[in-house]
Amino acid sequence: MKKIKTITCIGAGYVGGPTMAVIASKCPEIKVNVVDINEKRIAQWNDADVNNIPIYEPGLAEIVAETRDKNLFFSTEVDQAIDEAEMIFISVNTPTKTYGIGKGKAADLKYIELCARQIARVAKDDKIVVEKSTLPVRTAEALTSILHNTGNGVKYHILSNPEFLAEGTAIQDLLKPDRILIGGDSDTQEAREAMQALVDVYAHWLTDEQILTTNVWSSELSKLTANAFLAQRISSINAMSELCEKTEADVDEVAKAIGMDSRIGPKFLKASVGFGGSCFQKDILNLVYISQSLGLQEVADYWEQVIIMNDHQKRRFAQHIVKTLYNTVSGKKISLLGWAFKKDTNDTRESAAIYVSDYLLSEHAKIVVYDPKVSSEQVYADLEYLGTHDPAFIREQVKVVSSPTEACFQAHAVAIMTEWNEFNTYNWKEIYQHMMKPAFLFDGRNILNRYEMKEIGFEVYAIGKGPSIQIA
Ligand code: UDX
Ligand code: ADP
Repeated sequence: MKKIKTITCIGAGYVGGPTMAVIASKCPEIKVNVVDINEKRIAQWNDADVNNIPIYEPGLAEIVAETRDKNLFFSTEVDQAIDEAEMIFISVNTPTKTYGIGKGKAADLKYIELCARQIARVAKDDKIVVEKSTLPVRTAEALTSILHNTGNGVKYHILSNPEFLAEGTAIQDLLKPDRILIGGDSDTQEAREAMQALVDVYAHWLTDEQILTTNVWSSELSKLTANAFLAQRISSINAMSELCEKTEADVDEVAKAIGMDSRIGPKFLKASVGFGGSCFQKDILNLVYISQSLGLQEVADYWEQVIIMNDHQKRRFAQHIVKTLYNTVSGKKISLLGWAFKKDTNDTRESAAIYVSDYLLSEHAKIVVYDPKVSSEQVYADLEYLGTHDPAFIREQVKVVSSPTEACFQAHAVAIMTEWNEFNTYNWKEIYQHMMKPAFLFDGRNILNRYEMKEIGFEVYAIGKGPSIQIA
């Protein structure tokens, strides 16, 4: 059976970059090419100082330092890398469509299709093509159709190998995954060999029991299902957080109590200002769209509610800030600590901070943002992308600073948007002293000890805490 000597990954993003770095590190005899059309991104991946690679992910820079230019290569030479590889991973972005049929729900597959056409144009010998991006169920069918209709006699085997890594823990997730899922065709000997070739790559560091093989459609749908279930847990606990705020219940205590039931389990029950990230919303909207397209309206409505709840959670957090600050934040300084959608990443896609800011901007607040890993340009780009406010107005109202002390200086309120560990290490007494009084603290992640904060003098609001702790 053919052993893979060269792998190419199209797309050097949050999925492609870390996944290929780990494959290169665990498979020293395989040459791994990571290609992207974005020249700036590739230049950053090749920066002599590995701390400047475009993605912040704990442990990633070390692995890149160890493998880069040995068996891991980053380049913009897409055609050459396609030609060279026996196995090609497609790891390009599949954003929610912003136009045409399925606007706002369906996944936009134009980047995937462009990749398939490019592979079809360039390939001279047989290739195994692996879908790594999250895709709607039956995308492999479209890929197969494009690849097999080129008429140049090249044979393709399409596999689905969805990625389950979470940002911030990507390297650990790749090194010790709960499972690897490979979907493929088992009809012919050749197809089984293609699937085995990918199993053999992962077998460099994982056992057979950790590698699950299914048919392509189950694999594609499992990825959407996993993300829908995870997001549903967060929306469920967030729904309970609102109920807790009206009663004497504490959402963290409720989460602990239910999480000890082994049928429920303790993970993904942390109430928050709302989930973000590139996957949850996109995948659920996609699931809703697919269900609607198949005439399954009840299924679509069921999953859409997860998104509706999440939007509600973000909005009600922002509304609560306005209501608490005597129904007006116009001209008031609101300090947002954290902009990334979760800790330990510089990724801001769909971050709750963006939506909360957008709402506060509509109320004419002065916003000051501090995040340990996010650049000011990213903050402005995120707000401008929404299109709600004029770019000039955004730059006038929003300031991005490089220290928490500066962010909170003379602020009317501080809101914790991301659960960065460092927020717990600050001298909150000093921060309090330099704030406007009464000094309001809105903890959107429940990471600070609210009793200590109250003792310092803050007026504290924490997600899902009973009325005795909340600001009247
Ligand atoms: C997710 C899936 O976990 C991963 O398997 C998939 O491959 C991609 O999508 P990711 O979006 O990177 O990963 O991060 P995740 O840890 O799932 O967090 C998503 C969002 O949910 C974040 O905004 C996070 O803060 C929030 N969250 C998570 C909560 O609000 N509460 C929780 O209990 C867990
Ligand atoms: P993800 O989180 O899924 O990894 P990203 O947006 O971080 O998504 O990364 C996807 C990458 O794919 C981007 O860097 C983008 O430039 C790249 N890309 C998109 N289309 C193509 C293409 N046709 N050829 C090469 N790279 C592409």
